[in-house]
Amino acid sequence: MTAAGGAGRADEVTVTACPDGPLLVRGPARLVDPEGREIERHRATVALCRCGGTAIPPWCDGTHKVNGYRSGDDDVRGTASDGGTGA
Ligand code: FES
Repeated sequence: MTAAGGAGRADEVTVTACPDGPLLVRGPARLVDPEGREIERHRATVALCRCGGTAIPPWCDGTHKVNGYRSGDDDVRGTASDGGTGA
């Protein structure tokens, strides 16, 4: 994993939990739906909605900026006791 904003290796995947916003996925991650079908991506970096408000799931459409979504500190950083899952 790289520091936020840092350039990683071409084969490295990083997921950045944006405070009060989406999950930014950088790198060659394979995205699939609940049935395991591939979700096509057209960009090297994609933003996945986690506020539930998007009109174009699973992608972020910016709705989190107007629906009051708050990720909370634990959601972004995780905790030592949950292994950083934020659960
Ligand atoms: S996180 Fe951006 S629309 Fe949901």
